[in-house]
Amino acid sequence: MQNFISVKDVDDINILADKALAYKQNPLLHKSLGANKRIGLLFLNPSLRTRISTQIAAENLGMQVVTLNVDRDGWKLEFEEEAIMSGTSVEHVKDAAPILGNYFDILAVRSFPGLVNKAEDYSEHIIKQFMKYAGIPIVSLETSTLHPLQSLTDVITIKESIANSNYLNLKKPKVVLTWAPHIKPLPQCVANSFAQWINAWDEVEFVIAHPEEYELNEEFTNGATITHNQQEALKDADFVYVKNWSTYIDYGKIYNNDPSWMLTPKSLEITNNAKLMHCLPVRRNVELSDEVLDSGNSLVTVQAGNRIWAAQAVLAEILAEIK
Ligand code: CP
Repeated sequence: MQNFISVKDVDDINILADKALAYKQNPLLHKSLGANKRIGLLFLNPSLRTRISTQIAAENLGMQVVTLNVDRDGWKLEFEEEAIMSGTSVEHVKDAAPILGNYFDILAVRSFPGLVNKAEDYSEHIIKQFMKYAGIPIVSLETSTLHPLQSLTDVITIKESIANSNYLNLKKPKVVLTWAPHIKPLPQCVANSFAQWINAWDEVEFVIAHPEEYELNEEFTNGATITHNQQEALKDADFVYVKNWSTYIDYGKIYNNDPSWMLTPKSLEITNNAKLMHCLPVRRNVELSDEVLDSGNSLVTVQAGNRIWAAQAVLAEILAEIK
């Protein structure tokens, strides 16, 4: 693996997922693979899980880790080519990225979308600038449109849950991605990425439910059944993935914040005793009710724990190429 930006960088999802689950059984399996190698974790936006899980994953492989919170501690970066830098940005990515490429063997970057200019966000210009100028493998820690480490985690969480269930082993599980309300406009990244990975994985029945205004980019959803009726989607569901996203078509807006889309034990009665997933952070009693989050069917803590093994599998694949 050269870079990890989307599912397109993965040859075989099941092989990568199995590798991640092997690390869960034995975290120090390849504890010297990254010896004398250094990874930079660059955060242009906040993080709890991605930051810590990626650091632990890299350390399990013997790597040195340096984290920079660019949003708080770094110079404000400019990404526009030929920019006249008379505004607030202090350093151009074409100057900073080659230096980071010199310091590190792998560079991992988190950069959220502005949610103002759809063409700019969906061009993924920020991560592409790092890929162009750093000269080393680049790992996405969530970009403008995708969150592949989260999605690999989601696949391994579903996969291990199926493996641990006698019943789910006997049928094609039904996975539902449902929109949920939120108080502010959020990126489409997690939903796009989940749809892209589940469609590529192609081992489950996949349904997406959202209010009419929240159609996602078909580039990612093609292959899924899409409905505006949440109860219809939830019927016989085995896994329900909950996530808010802002509008894609009339970009970055909140049009409908219907609280009835927040899942409760009542709305889940129609499922097949479904397991609940969410990437976190979650706004309790806005996106998901306390009762659902705190129920025995919630996988959210297991899911967040699995972030380590997903990151470790990806870093191991990249290290194998650069050794
Ligand atoms: N799910 C996720 O990416 O969490 P953080 O934003 O805390 O990293």
